[in-house]
Amino acid sequence: MTEKRFIPVAAPVFAGNEKKYVMDCLETTWISSKGKYVTQFEESFAAFCGVKHAMLCSSGTTALHLGLLALGVGPGDEVILPTLTFVSTANAVMYCGATPVFVDSLPDTWNLDPAQLAAKITPRTKAIIVVHLYGLPCDMDAVQAIADAHHVPVLEDAAEAHGAVYQGQRAGALGKVGMFSFYGNKTITTGEGGMVTTGEDDLAEQVRLLRGQGQDPNRRYWFPVIGYNYRLTNIQAAIGLAQLEQADFHLGARRDVYRWYREELAGVDELVWQTVADGIEPTYWMVSVVLGDNVQMERDAVMAALRERGIETRPLFYPIHTLPPYHDPARHGSLPVAERLAARGINLPTWAGLTRDDVRYISQSLLACIR
Ligand SMILES: Cc1ncc(COP(=O)(O)O)c(C=O)c1O
Repeated sequence: MTEKRFIPVAAPVFAGNEKKYVMDCLETTWISSKGKYVTQFEESFAAFCGVKHAMLCSSGTTALHLGLLALGVGPGDEVILPTLTFVSTANAVMYCGATPVFVDSLPDTWNLDPAQLAAKITPRTKAIIVVHLYGLPCDMDAVQAIADAHHVPVLEDAAEAHGAVYQGQRAGALGKVGMFSFYGNKTITTGEGGMVTTGEDDLAEQVRLLRGQGQDPNRRYWFPVIGYNYRLTNIQAAIGLAQLEQADFHLGARRDVYRWYREELAGVDELVWQTVADGIEPTYWMVSVVLGDNVQMERDAVMAALRERGIETRPLFYPIHTLPPYHDPARHGSLPVAERLAARGINLPTWAGLTRDDVRYISQSLLACIR
């Protein structure tokens, strides 16, 4: 008997003041990109990450673009990044006119392989972008040691890692610049939105200048540089502030969901999980599994079978070096770990509204498919 239920892979949960704050924007007419919620959300988010500055912008992608521009990335530069990430990480490099250089993944954490990173640094390397994939912080100590040896700044793509902890520090405070996405499926959401974080005053100033059309803050309609309109509205910031006030709930609910999956699927040797090293507390943005060699069924067939049971999933990202705009085997070669993970990996439903019963149903359905 097929059950008539539908479990989305992600959904936002509004458990706090979202509606109240949005109504306040409407009632006070502060609906554009100035207003108290923009300021409060920025200040609260900076405190949440443990950084001096947080600058709201229109998306995670524009946050990446602003972060790279603030670091001075431009034509002729190379930027090293993992291939196993969402396409924006590389697109933002292209927006700057720079060249992305892709690095393979580690088989255990699925994050960037520091040894390959070291091998790919050249005199043209202007920045390194690390990604905390699916909310699991990467090996920052190893990356930072290489970056320091070559005097190259590290930009953290923490789009998926709100609140994740590495050696006592939160994502967004680990590199020279950090960025977050508040897209609707993220741990903290504003619908669409992003944030740049940094501890450095001059970088913060650059980001603020560039996101607001490049206008001199002390001289209206005077534009010393070509900037962008990458601002976020007070309405969206109002939602973000309300979400952030409930951060413990959102992070805790996702930790529960992860624990339930691990309990329901304990001892299942057909599934491989991201390895979490000591000193790391992931965010569990997307609980993900890779099908082992002992699973006969193709990944896409497993996803289709789950869909039949009303369970929405996602494939792991296609490695960016395999996507048409970036496909250049002579340049990138093969990055086999990422390619294999991507071909066999599935994101399972992960969001704060899932119940233990949902997770049991998903886990039992997955087992029924792969065994
Ligand atoms: C790793 C990573 N970087 C960047 C982004 C881009 O964020 P946005 O969709 O808000 O532009 C995403 C998100 O969706 C992401 O997962």
